[in-house]
Amino acid sequence: MLDLNEYGIEMWPNEKIRAFRKALLDWYDANKRDLPWRRTSDPYAIWVSEIMLQQTRVDTVIPYYESFLYRLPTISDLAAADEETLLKVWEGLGYYSRVRNMRTAAQQMMEHFDGQFPTTYQEITSLKGIGPYTAGAISSIAFNLPEPAVDGNVMRVLSRLFEVNYDIGVPSNRKIFQAMMEILIDPERPGDFNQALMDLGSDIESPVNPRPEDSPVKEFSAAYLHGTMDKYPIKAPKKKPTPVYYQAYIIRNQANQFLLEKNTDAGLLSGFWSFPLIEKSSSSTKEINLFEVVEVVDILGLFEKNYGQKVQWLEQEFQPVQHIFSHRKWQVDLVEGIVEEDKVDKDRELRWVSVEDFHAYPFAKPQQKMWDSYLKGKAKHK
Ligand code: ADE
Repeated sequence: MLDLNEYGIEMWPNEKIRAFRKALLDWYDANKRDLPWRRTSDPYAIWVSEIMLQQTRVDTVIPYYESFLYRLPTISDLAAADEETLLKVWEGLGYYSRVRNMRTAAQQMMEHFDGQFPTTYQEITSLKGIGPYTAGAISSIAFNLPEPAVDGNVMRVLSRLFEVNYDIGVPSNRKIFQAMMEILIDPERPGDFNQALMDLGSDIESPVNPRPEDSPVKEFSAAYLHGTMDKYPIKAPKKKPTPVYYQAYIIRNQANQFLLEKNTDAGLLSGFWSFPLIEKSSSSTKEINLFEVVEVVDILGLFEKNYGQKVQWLEQEFQPVQHIFSHRKWQVDLVEGIVEEDKVDKDRELRWVSVEDFHAYPFAKPQQKMWDSYLKGKAKHK
């Protein structure tokens, strides 16, 4: 067991720990948010919610959670889902490896756990895509096991309670917060205890506009009492995402169908459909050089060459699209063209698709934004 004193953290006496649990849980009972995954004890549903809630806000998650469980109500449905269905249920949520890992985990449950959700922390962490946070959340919420669920919110709250002088963005520091939680967690109501800290961390103790005066545990908070709330949590600023510049080609044929291409690369957005995209400059190219790069390369001619199409390009301009992934910032310019003859290159996964059929082709967030920008541009120039 990690010695918290070595990290300059003095744990409270038992009596204070009990008083803290009570203050936190009384507040939770009176103020907890009514969320769909709090109305069930089905570990499968709780797992779905926890994976979605990583990197995505509660308000955004709710409709995805409901439609996921409607389309894939059981572990065996998920284990058997095809790629297109997976991308459809996750379309727009981002970080798509999460849902692919979930299908693998469902297959593991079919194979090793009789199609049931495993019931111990050790077994739960053996599943693909389930790390200590998610295993802790499922163990405590669905199975009432006294396992901590340490995420960024929880680390922020604990940093303030104990004035923790370790950076919460450094992965190896997570063990400090895990050790604190193992002592603090309420053994009677571990799921509620974890969720109470999550609620506190995402609202009253949020990173932006916190309201420390409203905290039900402010009297326990060293940072509050010492006036050091601004200093905690310790967190080094994140590196900025690298900009990448793309040209998107919105190409129509005479039947008013649009050219879509499936991304067959293994990396980002693999398996999704998109308007054809060509990267304009390497990610290391500075913005100031962009015009040179674009002028040297004839970006419209490049499309015709790469895709074997003869295109009549239209003059209309569209609002460029921006999308930020964790490490990349996409900046996408749009251009529209019409083809006389709709040949498709056999080496690429290309389809001519009418708007009514778009729903069958999973689009990721940037592609949805491209389509919105296109429609807006067209509406303006009607
Ligand atoms: N964020 C992650 N898990 C959550 C949960 N169970 N309730 C509220 N917010 C969360």
